Amino acid sequence: MSNDVINAPVRAMLVLGTRPEAIKLAPVARAMADSPLFEPLVVTTGQHREMLHQMLDLLQVPARTELDVMRERQQLSTLTARLVDGLGEVLRDQRPDVVIVQGDTTTALTGALAAFYEHIPVAHVEAGLRTGVADNPFPEELNRRLIGRIARWHFAPTPRAAGHLTAEGVPESEVFTTGNTVIDNLLWVLAKGVGRNHFTTGLRRVLLTLHRRENQGEVMRGMGRALRRLADRGDVELLLPLHKSPAVREALLPELTGHPGIRVVEPLGYLDFSATLAACDLVLTDSGGVQEEAPSLGKPALVLRTTTERPEAVEGGAARLVGTTPEAILHAAERLLDDPREYTRMATAGNPFGDGRATERIITQLAGDFGVDAPDALGAPAADDSLIARLPEGPESYSTA
Ligand code: UD1
Ligand code: UDP
Repeated sequence: MSNDVINAPVRAMLVLGTRPEAIKLAPVARAMADSPLFEPLVVTTGQHREMLHQMLDLLQVPARTELDVMRERQQLSTLTARLVDGLGEVLRDQRPDVVIVQGDTTTALTGALAAFYEHIPVAHVEAGLRTGVADNPFPEELNRRLIGRIARWHFAPTPRAAGHLTAEGVPESEVFTTGNTVIDNLLWVLAKGVGRNHFTTGLRRVLLTLHRRENQGEVMRGMGRALRRLADRGDVELLLPLHKSPAVREALLPELTGHPGIRVVEPLGYLDFSATLAACDLVLTDSGGVQEEAPSLGKPALVLRTTTERPEAVEGGAARLVGTTPEAILHAAERLLDDPREYTRMATAGNPFGDGRATERIITQLAGDFGVDAPDALGAPAADDSLIARLPEGPESYSTA
């Protein structure tokens, strides 16, 4: 790529469709908009509607191309077909120099695939996460593996994620350990200090988020029952900003409404969610992003899943993979609430997901490879890799099985 020197700015298309993609690509969009070296072209697929729109201000890029693919209870096959088709047209129309996708969603997979069909190189942000179980999380684990076959730049958040990619045969020269951009965004938002904490009582504060497809149905109803029993203690306030997915709502609302210790609210905007996270005592979640954010704020996270592609926090002690059974969930939550030593151990374990400079590393690398880098054109000193380099490696995969 360094031979194909192009004139600045590099036209970088950021393809995003869901809440976490907007949050994690926002710092990249902002940095590119501030740099003379890049022209960020934002495409929102609309895989999510309300939950994406409430995040778009974070990007601070006024113009964007919008697709509108969301349908109630969309099937993965229909969504995938509509996205490849729609994105192909956008790419043929705008011909960017590079397409940037994030994570493991259907939008990310189809963004990479459509770019491949148009012979446009792909940069993958948050590359290399693996559980080692092809259908868990479903379908995200497979999406990640497939994007890993397509991408030219693999921006891995941790050394372990980078190790997965090289073990799969991706050349080391295409893998870059950067930290996770979610930390960059969280630090940026908290520095603004304008979010509102949505807890309302002085009780112990438990923040909940649940949405995973593989748990929908009976497993998620069981989670709801466990949470209701937790609230029966009477000394806790449970707050659930509820995902918009109808399948999630059907499973959880019957169990969680009508209890004085549980408040179910609509999804929070990012400023308020991060302020609420900063104010809580404990997090119970199946979310990828929340698993990364909680340790940065010293909040113990109980991960309500059977696998995680983010074992770094579990091994470091900031998170516990508790599984999905009601007994395991209740036991783990009560233990944390009742054992101050265990609580302090988790709350002080630290954050393994980055130092807030992932974006800098990503755009410095891209600028260099496109031959447009200039010493201070990025408006920031070169990233310090020493912290990232010290993060530990770990086993290949991680699950409760
Ligand atoms: C998707 C991602 C998952 C990510 C999650 C983030 C895939 C395969 N999965 O989950 O990795 O963790 O988003 O939240 O891409 N809906 C609305 N309004 C919204 C958003 C969703 O009404 O703003 C409803 C729609 O009925 C939609 C359903 O929720 O059909 C599920 O949305 P979808 O994007 O399919 O979510 P997941 O695939 O579960
Ligand atoms: N989040 C938010 N408002 C909410 C719930 C979550 O802004 O009401 C943020 C959270 O801070 C995290 C991201 O959404 O950065 C996680 O999104 P989600 O759990 O939907 O997806 P995942 O990370 O599991 O892919």
